[in-house]
Formats: sequence, structure tokens, C-alpha cells
Amino acid sequence: MTESTAEVTVDAMRYNELVERALVRIRGIGMEPYLDLGSETRTGTRLNREYMAAITLEMRILGSRPASAKTELFGQALRAPIIASAVCESRILKRLGPWETPYLEQIARGLADAGSMMSTGDVSHDELGRIVDQGAPVIHIVKPYADEERVFRGLESARSLGCVAVGMDIDAMFLEKAWDEVPGPPYLGYRSREDVAGYIRGTPLPFVVKGVLSVDDAVAARDMGAAAIVVSNHGGETIDYTVPVLEMLPAIRKAVPDLVVLADSGFRRGADVFKALALGAQGVGMAAQLVVACAADGRDGVRRMMTLLQEELERVMSITGCPTVPDIDASVLHLPRRTGS
Ligand SMILES: Cc1cc2nc3c(=O)[nH]c(=O)nc-3n(C[C@H](O)[C@H](O)[C@H](O)COP(=O)(O)O)c2cc1C
Repeated sequence: MTESTAEVTVDAMRYNELVERALVRIRGIGMEPYLDLGSETRTGTRLNREYMAAITLEMRILGSRPASAKTELFGQALRAPIIASAVCESRILKRLGPWETPYLEQIARGLADAGSMMSTGDVSHDELGRIVDQGAPVIHIVKPYADEERVFRGLESARSLGCVAVGMDIDAMFLEKAWDEVPGPPYLGYRSREDVAGYIRGTPLPFVVKGVLSVDDAVAARDMGAAAIVVSNHGGETIDYTVPVLEMLPAIRKAVPDLVVLADSGFRRGADVFKALALGAQGVGMAAQLVVACAADGRDGVRRMMTLLQEELERVMSITGCPTVPDIDASVLHLPRRTGS
């Protein structure tokens, strides 16, 4: 007997079934192009994915054992180092609505169900409160608002509502550029290094500088007192031709050994996450993947997607001889040789 995708319960779905269910819905509203953003030419995500794919893995099976990806970030025990990247409004999920429970709350609840961590961005105090109430630990990434008061209000919301960390996506201060649209939103603006240092001093929470893609910015973030950085090109919405996140990661890790280093932009599968961990990240964030998972089946889709990715990561860890997260290192990777350098 053949079962149609619609009859399979979401917790029995394989990765491709889950993605296909989401794509059918997203295509149905004509929004598929919005899954692959990026500024003028969308090269940011493509180059990230190409570099990621060019990294290959040795197998070290004899002497290995079934792996556990359990880890801890910002004092929170997690099922695996796979968490949400900052998410706020999604044009896709908005158009797929109306949602009985708002989609950001569904994402947060699905992450809680899967033992993961939520991260959010441009949301109000009340929305942030409802997201925190879903039970997953939350990182709140405040945007570089031109209005400084708004920045400080965001930092205070994160503290008073019980977020585990707060931060800023510094790569949005010259505005975001999604898919050749006019850069925006207009209420963001330039913040100086001293401004950012003031935000770090202005909160008791660990501060995450998001949007680091150079040793210079990583070292500056550390010197300013940040606890963590996210090596990221904002899913491609900064500038084109950014150096791939995984190519940049080892030099950054070396330059700031005491910081928590997270990575995002272009990660889709457990093996992608493994590569980032092997190159020095302590955790990997995903955003587009959560939009897909939520489009497939709201909270349940997110729980299923995260569970599948956790299982994929653990299988790669087992087969590469890395039974725990601290066992993962770059020695099992074969990095692409760059021509002309
Ligand atoms: C729907 C959506 C909303 C986002 N909102 C924010 C935000 O408010 N703040 C932020 O720093 N990044 C935001 N991002 C960017 C992500 O945090 C992240 O850097 C990037 O999307 C990661 O790449 P990926 O989508 O390929 O996983 C958003 C991304 C998406 C897809």
C-alpha cells in the first residue's frame, strides 16, 4: 500500500518528505523565491553552500561508539548544538497564515519540544514575552536601531523577560538587502564601535555580536567585552561575495579562543553542522530551515526537523569517531584546496 505524504504523521516523516510538504505550501502562495534571499546576486548563500559541500569527511569507525550530541550553551543544557538563528517576521509564514498560534511562538515551542534554543530579533516586548513563555531558552538579538532608546529598551526587555543572552546583528547597521530590494528597513542605522561597546556594558546578560566575518571584528567584539559572536553573513542579506562562513571560521576561532563562537548562514543538514563544529564553532544557527519546518506543520514540523537534524549529526559523529561534541575536531575534515593562492 502506498501512503500519500499527507497521511504520514509528521513525526514519522523523513527529511525530504517534511521539506516537500513545506515546498508544496510555499509554492502554492508563490513564495519559493523568498527561501533563497541574498542581496543583488544571491551569491552569499551559494558560496557558503559550495564551500561547505567541498569539505569532505574521513570515516573512523573501528573504536567509535554511538554518539551523543548533548551540549551546553549559555549555561543551558541542549539536546544538540543546533539552535535557531535570530528570526522575526517571515514574509513566507505571514502569507501562509492566518495562524491560530503566531508562527514565532510555534517555532519557539517546537524548539522547546526538541530540547533546542530559540533566538529572535525584531520583535516587541510583548511578543518576546510570549516567545520566552514557550519554554525554550531565548537569545534576543536587538537590531541596530537608529533610535538608541529603542536599543536600550530591547536590552532591558531581554533581561526582564529572562532571556539567556542578548546581542546585536551589527551586519544590519548599513541596512539589509534582500534579493535586490532597496536596502532597509529604514529605522535601522549606523552605530559606532563606542555605541556597541556601550550596549555591551549596558546589560548584565552575555552579549552576542552577530554578523562577524573577519578576525578584525571578532577581536574587536572580544575587546569590547562580548561573550559570544555569530560568524554569519545574515543568510546572504549583507553584501555579495562574502567569504564563506566555514572558510573564515578557523582563523576567527584561533583569534578569540575564549569567546563562544556560533555560526549561521546556509546550514541545512546534520553534516553541515558537524563541519562547523569541527572548524571551531560551539553551535550552529538555522533560520530558513525553521521557516520551512514551520511551513510544513507549525510547532510539530519544527520539532520533527530539529529531531531529524540532531539524529543526522549524531550519526555523522559516530561514523567519524567523535562520540561526544568535545571529541569533534578538524582532523577528520579534508578542506578544499584553493587555486591561485
Ligand atoms: C524569516 C527570517 C527572519 C530573520 N530575522 C532576523 C532578525 O530579526 N535579526 C537577525 O539578526 N537576523 C535575522 N534573520 C537572519 C538569520 O538570523 C540568519 O543570520 C540567517 O538567516 C541564517 O541563514 P539561514 O537562513 O541560511 O539559516 C532572519 C532570517 C529569516 C529567514
